[in-house]
Amino acid sequence: MAHIQINNLSREFVNRRKKEREGNGLDYGEKVSVLENINIEVEDGEMVCLLGPSGCGKSTLLRILAGFDKQTSGTVLIDGKEVTGPSSDNIFVFQHSGLLPWMTVGENVELGLRHMEDEQAKKVEIQEYIEMVELDGFEDHYPRQLSGGMQRRAELARALAVNPDILIMDEPFNGLDFLTHMKMREEVVNMHQFLGKTVFIVTHDIDDALIMGDRVVVFSKRPSQVKMNQKLDFPHPRIVFNKQTELSQLRDELFLMLGVSYAV
Ligand SMILES: Nc1ncnc2c1ncn2[C@@H]1O[C@H](COP(=O)(O)OP(=O)(O)OP(=O)(O)O)[C@@H](O)[C@H]1O
Ligand SMILES: [Mg+2]
Repeated sequence: MAHIQINNLSREFVNRRKKEREGNGLDYGEKVSVLENINIEVEDGEMVCLLGPSGCGKSTLLRILAGFDKQTSGTVLIDGKEVTGPSSDNIFVFQHSGLLPWMTVGENVELGLRHMEDEQAKKVEIQEYIEMVELDGFEDHYPRQLSGGMQRRAELARALAVNPDILIMDEPFNGLDFLTHMKMREEVVNMHQFLGKTVFIVTHDIDDALIMGDRVVVFSKRPSQVKMNQKLDFPHPRIVFNKQTELSQLRDELFLMLGVSYAV
């Protein structure tokens, strides 16, 4: 049985904006179909990268997966059990500013380890997660004392400490400078290889998907359907710029699919 099963899932929204004031082209009360008959299966430990045009419903799907939103029809099963609401036991949603500002990095990470009684073992584990994201030395810093990229890494350490079955990330590298983006991407790949979590990531970056994913899923524009669902059976580390490789051909295909004819 697949770890996550998304079956015939659809989501419609009802437009509650007044046309004349907020002109989104829809009449008040008009239905908008965002996701249409989506079927995706995710294996245990798989990292799925979801690509698709802006507004196609990627974040909506993540919210439904996490139990924060409800589909109009279809089902989401996790280990065969239907998702009916948020569950902090098995799912962690990685957020850009999810750190508690009044707690230090160490204390934020510790939040995920509250259940541990052995204080010494807890300390060791906190340190392990902090080292995994290369923030050793910053345990006693508050989030405001860190750069944006460091905050994002601290948030990743916190997510790992929670030890969820499924890690959900909506554009986790958004707004980071180029090098921090590369570095953090590397950390996510290492973390995934080391811990083997099931990860569902939405990204706008085709290279992120190709470098990190075990599977890439592409949505069409709204009403979204699955345009591509392909396993990425390539060893790490992956190089996408060598024009000879199958991975690079797939990259060109993905750029075309998302409307860019001249991939750089
Ligand atoms: N609560 C809501 N009520 C009405 N419409 C909504 C609601 N949430 C999302 N939508 C609509 O659903 C569509 C999909 O939104 P969503 O945020 O899932 O897109 P996305 O693929 O994540 O886009 P982006 O790449 O820009 O983040 C949008 O057209 C949005 O306006
Ligand atoms: Mg989104």
